[in-house]
Amino acid sequence: LSSKDFESFISFPTVFSSSLVRHELVANYSHLFSVQGSQPDLVPYLLLAHIDVVPASESDGWEAPPFSAKEIDGFIYGRGTIDDKSPLMGILQALEYLLIKGYAPRRGFYIGLGHDEEVSGYKGAMNIVRVLKQRSVQLSFVLDEGLAVLDGVISGLEGPAALIGISEKGSATVKLSVSMLPGHSSMPPSESSIGILAAAVKRLEENPMPRLFGHGPERGTFEHLAHKFGLPMKFIMSNLWLFAPLLGRVLERKPDTNAFVRTTTAVTMFNAGVKVNIIPALAEAYVNLRIHSAQSLQEVLDLIQSTVGDQRVKIELVNGFDPLPVSSADEKSFGFQIIKKTVLDIFPTVTVAPGICIGNTDSRHFKDLTNDIYRFAPVWFKPGDAQRFHGINERISKKNYEELIEFYFSLIQNCDIQKLPEPHSSVHEL
Ligand SMILES: *[C@@H]1O[C@H](CO)[C@@H](O)[C@H](O)[C@H]1NC(C)=O
Ligand SMILES: [Zn+2]
Repeated sequence: LSSKDFESFISFPTVFSSSLVRHELVANYSHLFSVQGSQPDLVPYLLLAHIDVVPASESDGWEAPPFSAKEIDGFIYGRGTIDDKSPLMGILQALEYLLIKGYAPRRGFYIGLGHDEEVSGYKGAMNIVRVLKQRSVQLSFVLDEGLAVLDGVISGLEGPAALIGISEKGSATVKLSVSMLPGHSSMPPSESSIGILAAAVKRLEENPMPRLFGHGPERGTFEHLAHKFGLPMKFIMSNLWLFAPLLGRVLERKPDTNAFVRTTTAVTMFNAGVKVNIIPALAEAYVNLRIHSAQSLQEVLDLIQSTVGDQRVKIELVNGFDPLPVSSADEKSFGFQIIKKTVLDIFPTVTVAPGICIGNTDSRHFKDLTNDIYRFAPVWFKPGDAQRFHGINERISKKNYEELIEFYFSLIQNCDIQKLPEPHSSVHEL
């Protein structure tokens, strides 16, 4: 696919013809746009999105074919409408309009479009990073997908909240295996490879990783949102110095909130045995862990070792990485404050708070290029919408898609303002 082919597919003629924009293909399928600023002393930023999607099949029960972009009652249906083509098209559409308007940015910026985010971005995002490193680029901030505007999703919260992801949990995939001499089922040993491994897996499930609620960025989320809750939650969330352990015990009861409390442990594969009358030599299991910000990959591996507590179980790290550094979210944080201002320009009634992503994004590959990575797109999530993400009937309303374009249109201009907005923090109001 040549650069020319790509141009002919899409409808951003001004982006592709502007003397301010340089477009290049990276790793054959990813794209890097470099938009020149008039003041080269201003540190550039980068907007990131991805082209690829997870699979979808009409037979899964979609109301409209998943690659039709069919419109039903004001919603555009299709795989990728949330993750992540709306932000991607929104960014390009916003740039197109700005250039048509004759806008020339003061601060230069980049747009990176990866092609393999859903399988970790090892080719797309990582090669975009490599190209930028070769050019010694440093970035003021990176804005990628991740969190959204939550409306009616957090129980007890009054009004919508825009959560801007300032970090991501780490991840580890660990292989547990037990090998023994194979034997005939007529003369079984007292313990089999399956029995030993099953007991180890059970110990991991019965002894979850420690409760760490309040020791990571989730604390800031609760503190920022506290004033939007009724009593007694308002009081509890405003006094996490006292109540973090109590709240942690409440949140761990449900899987979706437990994810914010600790490193989660999920046994995802268990394989052993090929024949009904043979004791298998080998049993193996895979465990996928998502690491809380207050823990390291090494600490998690050490805990697995001690919890399994059986030398016969071999423990190997298949792949993993530490939780991502926590980006700034204070009054002096350029990226955070610009994103926040832009959200409030478009959605004046929304409460903005820092958040933590429990999944991972392409932006994690950019951590050497900037201290500040934010994960947010102004997509509205209402009750039930979470299941559409990587599920069936993924959709975005036409209105929300327009808001996305407005958001990036406004964000690019806000990045050119000379002075950060005056702080009007709502934390600790109680
Ligand atoms: C790009 O495509 C060429 C030809 O198919 C292939 O050899 C090369 O490995 C690809 N590059 C990347 C980074 O995937
Ligand atoms: Zn995505």
